Amino acid sequence: MSASDILIEVKNLKKYFPIQKGVFKKVVGHVKAVDGVSFSIRQGETLGLVGESGCGKTTVGRMIMGAYRPTGGEIWFQTPDGGPRLNLAEMTPAQMRPIRPHIQMIFQDPFASLNPRMTVREILAEPLIVNKVAKGAALEGRVRELIELVGLKVQYLTRYPHAFSGGQRQRICVARAMALYPRLLVADEPTSALDVSVQAQIVNLALEIQNKMGLAYLFISHDLGLVRHFSQKIVLMYVGKVVEYAPAANLFGKPRHPYTEALMSNVPSVRSDFVSHKIILKGETADPINPPPGCAFHPRCVYAQDVCSREEPLLREIGPDHVVACHFSEALDLNGCDALGCAI
Ligand SMILES: Nc1ncnc2c1ncn2[C@@H]1O[C@H](COP(=O)(O)OP(=O)(O)O)[C@@H](O)[C@H]1O
Ligand SMILES: [Mg+2]
Repeated sequence: MSASDILIEVKNLKKYFPIQKGVFKKVVGHVKAVDGVSFSIRQGETLGLVGESGCGKTTVGRMIMGAYRPTGGEIWFQTPDGGPRLNLAEMTPAQMRPIRPHIQMIFQDPFASLNPRMTVREILAEPLIVNKVAKGAALEGRVRELIELVGLKVQYLTRYPHAFSGGQRQRICVARAMALYPRLLVADEPTSALDVSVQAQIVNLALEIQNKMGLAYLFISHDLGLVRHFSQKIVLMYVGKVVEYAPAANLFGKPRHPYTEALMSNVPSVRSDFVSHKIILKGETADPINPPPGCAFHPRCVYAQDVCSREEPLLREIGPDHVVACHFSEALDLNGCDALGCAI
């Protein structure tokens, strides 16, 4: 594959939210929600963005969508017309408008994402009308195509969102996101609010649609086990930063960061003969307003040494396309999925 296959490349992306106090709204500090994140996604590829709640995943997604302006960094996007790549981080809302159809997002809460006063037909037609893509019979035809794409019946088009279950609502959200043939779908914990039995259906639907339409996914999840089977690459975040970024097979085969190993060890085992190697993470995830000195993970790390509380480990390449931010990556022999016997 050549560099031109890269759909989106995020470089050193940052988002600091100011913390304001008093009547004069004096800025007294910053939440470093995202603090130097880099990754790229190829056309048609899935990248899993994983980490505990509050580590900055949604903020990354929102910056890519253009909903938040980055504090720093670049977001290079290849438009489908094959023209030069555009840096979305520097574009104004007006400049972003023609790019928006190419990047769509679905959210965790399918209940909050749909207007309760609109029928499914209106919900699906809206992006087509707003972007002047279709009207009349063509509009109705595309709306029917969309509802069938997500496995729902055409008769449902006249119903309102309240008539549907969580899983069906998420299907409607997916259909709406597909209306304008996007090249990238940012899926932000799309199954977290759903029953376990429905989660797999939504993941399978997403994969079917990806096969049909050849689009790329940025799949955000706190659950490393969930993203394994359909992500070609994984980015693991901790308190606004990337701790490990690798092809999925390498990461699950041999993690190089203690945080990755700990998350992996907490995925339930399928092997009945297996002696659990579950690593209990001590304490709470660090506060992004005031992260610990050195490596932000050190207070919770079972392998931490003195240097870890003094010096921040820089992200460095440790294997082909495998980057990690740990002082002891070479010295540690961490357990991957096989050794841990995890069900993923
Ligand atoms: N609009 C905002 N203003 C201030 N702080 C925010 C805002 N959005 C998110 N944060 C903070 O940024 C951090 C990362 O949040 P978020 O990106 O939602 O994490 P995640 O999606 O991984 O749970 C959290 O500490 C959160 O409280
Ligand atoms: Mg989130």
